[in-house]
Amino acid sequence: MSDKRVAKLSFDGKELELPIYSPSAGPDVLDITKLYAEGDVFTYDPGFTSTASCESTITFIAGGKGELLYRGYPIDQLANESHYLEVCYLLLYGELPSEDELVEFESRVTNHTMLHDQMNHLFRGFRRDAHPMAIMCGVVGALSAFYHDSTDVADPQQREIASIRMIAKIPTIAAYAFKYSAGQAFVYPDNNLDYASNFLRMCFAVPTEEYVVNPILAKAMDRIFTLHADHEQNASTSTVRLAGSSGANPFACIAAGIACLWGPAHGGANEACLNMLREIGTVDRIPEFVARAKDKSDPFRLMGFGHRVYKNFDPRATVMKESADEVLELLGIEDNEILKIAKELERIALEDPYFVEKKLYPNVDFYSGIILDAMGFPTSMFTPIFAMSRTVGWIAQWKEMIGDPKLKIGRPRQLYTGATHRDYVDVKDR
Ligand code: SDX
Repeated sequence: MSDKRVAKLSFDGKELELPIYSPSAGPDVLDITKLYAEGDVFTYDPGFTSTASCESTITFIAGGKGELLYRGYPIDQLANESHYLEVCYLLLYGELPSEDELVEFESRVTNHTMLHDQMNHLFRGFRRDAHPMAIMCGVVGALSAFYHDSTDVADPQQREIASIRMIAKIPTIAAYAFKYSAGQAFVYPDNNLDYASNFLRMCFAVPTEEYVVNPILAKAMDRIFTLHADHEQNASTSTVRLAGSSGANPFACIAAGIACLWGPAHGGANEACLNMLREIGTVDRIPEFVARAKDKSDPFRLMGFGHRVYKNFDPRATVMKESADEVLELLGIEDNEILKIAKELERIALEDPYFVEKKLYPNVDFYSGIILDAMGFPTSMFTPIFAMSRTVGWIAQWKEMIGDPKLKIGRPRQLYTGATHRDYVDVKDR
């Protein structure tokens, strides 16, 4: 960034000049790094609605246009023409791989899919009815207790090994969490299968019989992974970056990201959305729920609608909707009441002035649950699958941050409105 433009800020007799940087895409940014030192003031932006927390070259969202680019490539092209591990390479290294580079990368990932066998005991410490996200938070954080040779963030080699291990092992951890909650035996990874097929087999195979992965379902699964892979500085990615800025090991940072993603306002929305569609139950009850979503006295919101950045359609939802039709048709699930409710809810909401005025469109979580439900996943596995897909984005963003020589620990300030100085009073005098 070498722009010479400045924004002039004058207040309380002070005249400040804030450098303005022009990005390759998106709004200009005002550099306020010297504001406190020179102006003795903070900026105030809870929720970071107007704040760029970092410089990045990985993902870009044009919210008004409904465009999402991974290293400049449109998400719909990648979802329809590429595949998840190639997208992982692109997000991690910045360019699409050559054929040889892709073969070598896929081989490295494939050869790290197994967990240290002693980790299998960790799962047994959870109750069988533990939410798989609780298990994933715990087991991913515990990776740093088993892989000491890839926790030194100052060593680029160890950072690279940790990145490959994380991408390779997260499907195994998610599948084991699913199997454990179902009371079934773990199915070890099969290195002869592609990433998505391997995950489906680990989830749905049983040791007692042959399991053949349906290639259409594997393609739909792979596409879901790609659609969720990265998304700029969303809440969970910002969590990973903030945790990583202290020098915490990569496994601990990813565990923090998983914890943040779990929330229903974020990655937990796919599970909440399907539960909402089930609660609506029939198309004729949709108006009742739309009314509730508009009622300020009711905390209810339409899960799967709205977005901090997209003020037009979410391009991922468009691809996901096409996938939903394909998967349901393949599975012969014609009269899917839930899909009917989803499509009617989308139609009604997009015509309703409240939603139009607030630019609330279906987001990535609106249709994903319908596909995952049709594929046989319980709703409790929806967010773990989102977390699994997003792991490469978290890792790519973490690597970009750790590799930045300008890295400083993230330490926001505050607008303090609490009690000012006062002296302690002994309890007998109060
Ligand atoms: C993800 O950041 C990312 O990129 C996230 C994500 C990713 O890939 O990482 O895209 C994944 O998290 C998608 C979002 C999934 N969440 C949901 O579907 C939950 C439902 N959506 C809302 O909770 C909400 O839309 C958010 C959290 C997604 C966005 O919230 P914002 O940007 O903080 O907007 P807001 O809450 O300030 O809402 C603006 C207005 C409010 O009304 P007013 O106070 O202005 O009158 O819109 C209303 C809100 O009440 N509103 C909704 C609504 N979402 C916003 N009203 C009804 N239903 C909704 N879903």
